[in-house]
Amino acid sequence: MEVIKNRKILQDFIERQKEMGKRIGFAPTMGALHKGHLSLYEEAKKENDLVISSIFVNPTQFNNPEDLEKYPRDINRDILILENSGLVDAVYIPEVTDIYPEKAESQHYDFDGLENEMEGKSRPGHFDGVGTVVEELFRQVQPDNAYFGEKDFQQLSIIKKMVDKKHLPVNIKGVSIYRAENGLALSSRNQRLHEERRDASKIIYETLEKVNDWFKTVSIPEIKERVADIFDDQKGMQLEYFLIADENTLQETDFFYKDRNFRAFIVVVVDGVRLIDNMHLD
Ligand code: PAF
Repeated sequence: MEVIKNRKILQDFIERQKEMGKRIGFAPTMGALHKGHLSLYEEAKKENDLVISSIFVNPTQFNNPEDLEKYPRDINRDILILENSGLVDAVYIPEVTDIYPEKAESQHYDFDGLENEMEGKSRPGHFDGVGTVVEELFRQVQPDNAYFGEKDFQQLSIIKKMVDKKHLPVNIKGVSIYRAENGLALSSRNQRLHEERRDASKIIYETLEKVNDWFKTVSIPEIKERVADIFDDQKGMQLEYFLIADENTLQETDFFYKDRNFRAFIVVVVDGVRLIDNMHLD
C-alpha cells in the first residue's frame, strides 16, 4: 500500500493511474478507523480497479474546538489497519496546507435546505466544512466512485447534492450502517465510552427497530412520545433528538405519505458522547 503524504506526490500518483485507465474508488475518512470504514473499502474494491482512502481530521467541520482537540488520532495504528485489510491500494494523508493552502476556512454552500435540518441545527457551519473538504479531496483524488456510510445520512445527502449542483464527475455510493453485534452503529466516538455504557447503548438500535414496527400502526406524535419515554428511563443518557423525516428532503414529518420514503433519525448523548443513528422505515 502506498502512503502518500503530500499533494504533489498524490498528483503524480493519480496521473499514472489515470494514464493506465484505472477506475478509482475513494473513501475519505478522519482516521480512528474501525470495521465501519472497512465495509466502505470492501464495497469500493468490488467496483473499482484501485481503492484510495484519505485520513484528514478536517478542522473546518468542527464547530467546537474541544471536539477537534479530543478527536482520536493514531496514524500508525490506522496505517496498520489499512495495510492488514488488504483492501486499500493507497492512503492519502495530507497536511492542512495541502487542503487549505491559505487559510483553513470553509466555502459557503447552498444545499437546498438540507443543511438546515437535524445536525445543521446543532452544529452550525459543520456541513460547509464537510462540503469544502470533500470537494477539495474529490478534485485532488479524481475518483470515479466515492463511498460514504449511511450512519451520517445527512452528510451523505449533502455530498450527493453538492456533486449534483457542481456537476462533479463522481458517483456517490451510500454504504449500509455497520453495526456491532449488539446493534450499536460503529463510530470512532464509541472508543470514548466505557464498555458497560457501550453495551447499554444498544438501546438506541433497539428503539429504532421498535419504531420500524410501530410505524405501520402508530401515529408519529405517539411514536415520538414512546421514544422519549424509553430514554427518560435510561440513566446517564439524554435524548437530544428523535424525529422521522422524508429521506429526500430530510424535512421532519408528522404524517406518512404512501409514495415517499421515510427514515427515523436519533441522537443520544451517553456520558457526554454524542451517538447518532438512523434507520430506513419499511
Ligand atoms: O465522515 C467523515 O469521516 C468526514 O465527515 C469526512 C467525510 C471524511 C469529511 O471530513
